[in-house]
Amino acid sequence: MLRFNQQQIDLLNLLRGSPESALCLDRLAAKLGRPAELIEQDLDSLSTAGYQFARDSSECITLATIPDRLYAHEIETGLQTCHLGKTIHYYENIDSTNIRAAELAREGAAEGELVVAEMQSAGRGRLSRDWHSPLYCGIYASLILRPQVPVAATPGISLLVAVSIAESITRLTGRQAGIKWPNDVLIDGRKTAGILADLSANARSVQYLIVGFGINVNQIESDFPADITDKATSVRIAIGKPLDRVRLLQNALHDFESRYLSFVREGLEAQLPAIKALSSILMKPITFEQKGRTMKGVAVDIDRNGLLIVECDGSRISLAAGEISLQESY
Ligand code: BTN
Repeated sequence: MLRFNQQQIDLLNLLRGSPESALCLDRLAAKLGRPAELIEQDLDSLSTAGYQFARDSSECITLATIPDRLYAHEIETGLQTCHLGKTIHYYENIDSTNIRAAELAREGAAEGELVVAEMQSAGRGRLSRDWHSPLYCGIYASLILRPQVPVAATPGISLLVAVSIAESITRLTGRQAGIKWPNDVLIDGRKTAGILADLSANARSVQYLIVGFGINVNQIESDFPADITDKATSVRIAIGKPLDRVRLLQNALHDFESRYLSFVREGLEAQLPAIKALSSILMKPITFEQKGRTMKGVAVDIDRNGLLIVECDGSRISLAAGEISLQESY
């Protein structure tokens, strides 16, 4: 795990705060209360981590480039949440952020701790699928939550994460992103993000809920496995240029925090209009699997537990999970 010490982060923040006026080494040393040689060493370590510094003829230094990395201190800088993402566990490469987050939760990690990775070697999707997670392209992250709500209400949390991701993409890019129940985020009808929730609960209460989300941010077409190129897209493909992954993650965490706190206080009801407004399948004919059979129906509603209500052969059934597709003829 790549680690930065507090002195390096203070140095970065000092330079970040002085974009116009370069600071010379002696002044940096005086401001940070450390010898110039140690500042030089920290600048070297930061350069190895991808930061670029410019020096003028009088040895004054400016921060020229911030690397495209999900470093914890970059996410924390400017993160406007009160609880979520206040502790971030950063990995360059990990098997799955959901697996690591569950380990941390079992060891007693607090609500809101976030695991984030630049790539996953065994990223997991819903329905036992893989989640392809190439290096530095996407956001692969898992939040540890400990909601004091009935176990049956927890699917609503994944729906709210999907809403937050969709809203954040739309806010930052101007491109409309929608959601497909239960928790896919779509742009132009193609999957851009997915959510995998791992619940640990007994009959009465939730111990922890890991909400893992994968967002295709800066992938290009060739980054996707051949079997999903026609179904998947990335924000970059949709808008024609890369998007700052740190900004998108900060936005999504901030948006989700207020939805989550409202959900814990008063349930999903108040947020159903936002969920339904973004939903791409409501009032449309769908197909879905039940007990091994392919069924047809019309998706008519989403209820206060986040279940999909489908009208099917004159009666209404509630779907808790699974894969649904829009009917081909539609
Ligand atoms: C889906 O199938 O739509 C859900 C995909 C969830 C992928 C994310 S990436 C971060 C977290 N870690 C995982 O192994 N999976 C989730």
